[in-house]
Amino acid sequence: MSNSLTVSLTGTTDLPPGKIAAVVTSLEMLAQPAERPDPPGTEGFSLDRIDGNDIERYLDVYRLLGERWMWFSRLVKPRAELAVILSDPAVDLYAVRFDGRDVGLLELDFRAAGEGELAFFGLDEPVVGKGAGRWLMNRALALAWAKPIKRFWVHTCTIDHPGAINFYQRSGFKVFKRGIEIDDDPRLKGQMRADSVPHHPVIA
Ligand SMILES: CC(C)(COP(=O)(O)OP(=O)(O)OC[C@H]1O[C@@H](n2cnc3c(N)ncnc32)[C@H](O)[C@@H]1OP(=O)(O)O)[C@@H](O)C(=O)NCCC(=O)NCCS
Repeated sequence: MSNSLTVSLTGTTDLPPGKIAAVVTSLEMLAQPAERPDPPGTEGFSLDRIDGNDIERYLDVYRLLGERWMWFSRLVKPRAELAVILSDPAVDLYAVRFDGRDVGLLELDFRAAGEGELAFFGLDEPVVGKGAGRWLMNRALALAWAKPIKRFWVHTCTIDHPGAINFYQRSGFKVFKRGIEIDDDPRLKGQMRADSVPHHPVIA
């Protein structure tokens, strides 16, 4: 099968079976926003630094989010390449802890000089919508802007939680770019569980 396709800039472009597609929105902030209070009830949440050499622990937390929201870039990357990224001192990895278990992932990437990327940010389903997102964003912003950066950015896509874009905008990020991301469906290649991400069904 050819690996290229002309995307129409007006109207719909059909994709071959076996593909997934999302609209990607990128957002940025160029200064640290005003601090916001943590919502009540978030006292039990904490951040636990993940050792960048502990790839299995990292992937366990990543899969928690990935199998719900189609995050798979880290699952398909060759282990040697992933090890280089995760062990880079400019990449900060945290598990969100609540009630004795991992319930979320925060990954901050400062490898590009003068800027930071909120590379992965997410909570497990049972703790979404209860204030922990704001709690986690408060931590992410404080950690990021403690570094010598002039820009902090994030991207989210239409397969992510539908509230993510508004949440990021309420956090102080401004939209600056939109794109289309097309990939082979990782569920058809055995790279993700076949029953994962039910809101973006497999078309075999
Ligand atoms: C994006 C995501 C982290 C947002 O987290 P969330 O748990 O929905 O967010 P919250 O419940 O903290 O925030 C929603 C709003 O409700 C408020 N809120 C929620 N519970 C509250 C409570 N008990 N008391 C007071 N306010 C509360 C929050 O303060 C927040 O308002 P604000 O934005 O004006 O501060 C979450 O949806 C998620 O992890 N999704 C899955 C992964 C994903 O899609 N990640 C983004 C990919 S880039």
